[in-house]
Amino acid sequence: MAAQKVSTSEVPAGTSIHPHSSPRATPERAGLEWWRTAVIYQIYPRSFADATGDGIGDLRGITARLPELVDLGVDALWLSPFYTSPQRDAGYDVADYCDVDPLFGTLEDFDTLEREAHDRGLRIIVDLVPNHSSSDHVWFQQALASAEGSVERARYVFRHGMGETGELPPNNWESVFGGPAWTRVANADGTPGQWYLHLFDSTQPDFDWQNPWVHEQFRDILRFWLDRGVDGFRVDVAHGMIKADGLPDYTPPADAGSMGGSGGGLEPEIGAHGEAMSPPYWAQDGVHEIFRDWRGVLDEYEGDRILVAEAWVEPLSRLAEWVRPDEMHQAFNFSYLETPWTGAAMRRVVDDSLASFAGVGAPSTWVLSNHDVVRHASRLAVTAENPQGHGIGPRSPGQPVRELGLLRARAATALMLALPGSAYLYQGEELGLPEVIDLPDDSRQDPTWFRTSGERYGRDGCRVPIPWEADSPAYGFSPSGESWLPQPDDWAPYARDAQLDVDGSTLELYRAALGLRAKFGLASGDVEWLPGFADDVVAFRNGGIIVIANTGAEQVAIPDAEVLLSSNPLQRTVASAGTLPSDSTVWLLDD
Ligand code: NOJ
Repeated sequence: MAAQKVSTSEVPAGTSIHPHSSPRATPERAGLEWWRTAVIYQIYPRSFADATGDGIGDLRGITARLPELVDLGVDALWLSPFYTSPQRDAGYDVADYCDVDPLFGTLEDFDTLEREAHDRGLRIIVDLVPNHSSSDHVWFQQALASAEGSVERARYVFRHGMGETGELPPNNWESVFGGPAWTRVANADGTPGQWYLHLFDSTQPDFDWQNPWVHEQFRDILRFWLDRGVDGFRVDVAHGMIKADGLPDYTPPADAGSMGGSGGGLEPEIGAHGEAMSPPYWAQDGVHEIFRDWRGVLDEYEGDRILVAEAWVEPLSRLAEWVRPDEMHQAFNFSYLETPWTGAAMRRVVDDSLASFAGVGAPSTWVLSNHDVVRHASRLAVTAENPQGHGIGPRSPGQPVRELGLLRARAATALMLALPGSAYLYQGEELGLPEVIDLPDDSRQDPTWFRTSGERYGRDGCRVPIPWEADSPAYGFSPSGESWLPQPDDWAPYARDAQLDVDGSTLELYRAALGLRAKFGLASGDVEWLPGFADDVVAFRNGGIIVIANTGAEQVAIPDAEVLLSSNPLQRTVASAGTLPSDSTVWLLDD
């Protein structure tokens, strides 16, 4: 990228590039483990690359695309579930934790993928789904076939119903995907029997983690994959495995949807003394004992193997409990993901994240997109309330303007990748992919869509198979042209090959940012806020660079320095010396 000099005379009055410090990110510098600074790329296997041509991505497809991931500059891959599953929740309904679903390949395919990834210096993190299994799992089938009070039923959460004949569910909990969290089963003689708990779909029965047998099974599952050489686990619903004693009723506050997460309604209520109070199915203290136990298992293995929490827990100081020194290594920073694109909010969440995680010796993580949220290239331009998990469809209010969304997404990513700690990317964001809003109703597959009778669109719009080649069938996703969700007709310009080496493309922005992030050691640096900028502006120094993000509507003056990276493609071609347009981020050399 051509260096651009801008003039000091245009720096606003009072601007100084001499900082005052924010809380330090890693005061104790406890270690230099890879995961403290890694960029981890999430692969959603069914939508990444399809080698077999059945329209569903697979492990061999991933292996074939490893060179492209190395070229992008990421350090590790997190694979969403590829285990044996009836795919009622796209694989988060596991029927065999120690095998690969034929849709995705075989265990040998996994071994090949892992070996080739390791050979290229890429680590592999797999998904662990411990809160629930598939109802097809042999353990649940055994539970159904066994009598009330049996050891088989004790593996899951079976209870008698309320009401005169047990016709009412045991409590009032609702499924994250909509509808009741309980389903009644039939006795062997066909009469109505007990109810089982499922915080998600009815095909995803919750385990009873009060039962030591469940603990034993999951230790074995961890060992199975650790023995195969995985570098870690992303732990699904890591705030949900323990439920409050007695399973008390719970009525979420009216505005609980705003921090739903795939976990739904997770924002803690604030008690009379300002303390966070969790729903009786989220963030119960007992979960920590499980993670300490697992940490012990991982520590038996050589290498830095990690546990990453998917825990929709607020505030960040509470989430930090998941990454205390003897628990998990990282937790997804969903507070950051959900922060609106405004300067004050961004500064606050960065400070809060760095302080909260540093307080327990963990790195902060950063994330803007994943397979459960509206892609940030659309989300950042949605103008109406859009609770996580509800998705956007043609009838949703506040439809995003695509150009604005992409502009903001690029700026937000450039800001994120300059922050110290570990960053997560979701496949396709490096191409600037928007959410697919106009999926035909009859193509939708998210259980949320079905369980709310179409009231919530759900998460399919961020899961559409990604485009690799502008002129190939299915944009190079599948050799047959098949695609399990239809790809938009206008995606050719987003294809990887249409962006590679194209100055100003989103792919080139990501490649450049990742390269500079490594070169300047930003991930192990510190944030030092720069004073003197307008409230809409996020400005800080990290290592040898100055980062300035303008979230406001007006252009702002920036210091005279060499431009290393600019999120705004126009900025490099128009005369913009000394100014930063709105919704743009720039990295300047601090010399
Ligand atoms: C979180 C996963 O990310 C999401 O996709 C899934 O539906 C739920 N957990 C249930 O497993």
